[in-house]
Amino acid sequence: MTELVDRYGPWAVVAGASEGIGASFSAKLAARGFNLVLVARRSGPLEELASSLRHAHGVEVRIRSIDLGSPGAVSALREASEDVDVGLFIYNAAYSPIGAFLDIEVEAHEKAVAVNVLGPLRASHYFGRRLVARGKGGIILMSSMSGFQGTAMVANYAATKAYDTILAEGLWYELGQRGVDVLACIAGATSTPSYESSTDRIPRSGLARPMEPDDVTEQALRDLGARPAAVSGPRNRLASILLRRLLRREAAIRMVSEETEHMYR
Ligand SMILES: NC(=O)c1ccc[n+]([C@@H]2O[C@H](COP(=O)([O-])OP(=O)(O)OC[C@H]3O[C@@H](n4cnc5c(N)ncnc54)[C@H](OP(=O)(O)O)[C@@H]3O)[C@@H](O)[C@H]2O)c1
Repeated sequence: MTELVDRYGPWAVVAGASEGIGASFSAKLAARGFNLVLVARRSGPLEELASSLRHAHGVEVRIRSIDLGSPGAVSALREASEDVDVGLFIYNAAYSPIGAFLDIEVEAHEKAVAVNVLGPLRASHYFGRRLVARGKGGIILMSSMSGFQGTAMVANYAATKAYDTILAEGLWYELGQRGVDVLACIAGATSTPSYESSTDRIPRSGLARPMEPDDVTEQALRDLGARPAAVSGPRNRLASILLRRLLRREAAIRMVSEETEHMYR
């Protein structure tokens, strides 16, 4: 089997790289010999991660502090990476304001659209053109099971994640014909710093208990090139069959919304 770095290297860009799922992608790619451009807003955690990856794997690592929801994000990504041969782009960052839809200011909802919709749209367009021009490459967009159905307390976030899944699936078909593999990585609850700090009512058993970031990213790197979209882990796949195929839509919305309300109200 071809090594990942031969298919998608030598450089990868991870947008939203410094902690949780993004840090796990970065570590796995460095371990496989990729040079990296790591992006997040805070430079402290980026510097720490970059120096540990250089030390552990001897790869080149660049860091850039960029707000991926800002209109200038793509110019900054271009400036950070145009002189190196990027073969893999991962959009991982997201903004997820949690609460009743009307209690969250509309500006916060707009910020979620900027980071979770406009960010991946603009970056996929930019890196999509670059990767098609070089004739091969890969793009992973991080999505969420909350995008399968409307969900109370995260109604707008869930809608942005539906966008991410559907965008990736369309690009899987279009760009796949031009040598570029695209994957929507559809995670369920995952034990990242932002998820762990969101509530003290995280279920620790049953179908909804969180996965580890390393398991999510290992599967995504395996699934890239094999399918358009992949739900992370067997428990989440089982839950997705229940939500998407077995339950009526109203029942699925109710079930997930009640669980989310229980966690966050
Ligand atoms: N954790 C879960 O339970 C879960 C479940 C389903 C799907 N997902 C998806 O998985 C992805 C990662 O989630 P996560 O829980 O690891 O954490 P996250 O809070 O979405 O993202 C973490 C990383 O992204 C960076 N980031 C966030 N906003 C940014 C911005 N505006 N500009 C640049 N960088 C930004 C953070 O660094 P800075 O703060 O320094 O910018 C950090 O490195 C998201 O797309 C999320 O929707 C997560």
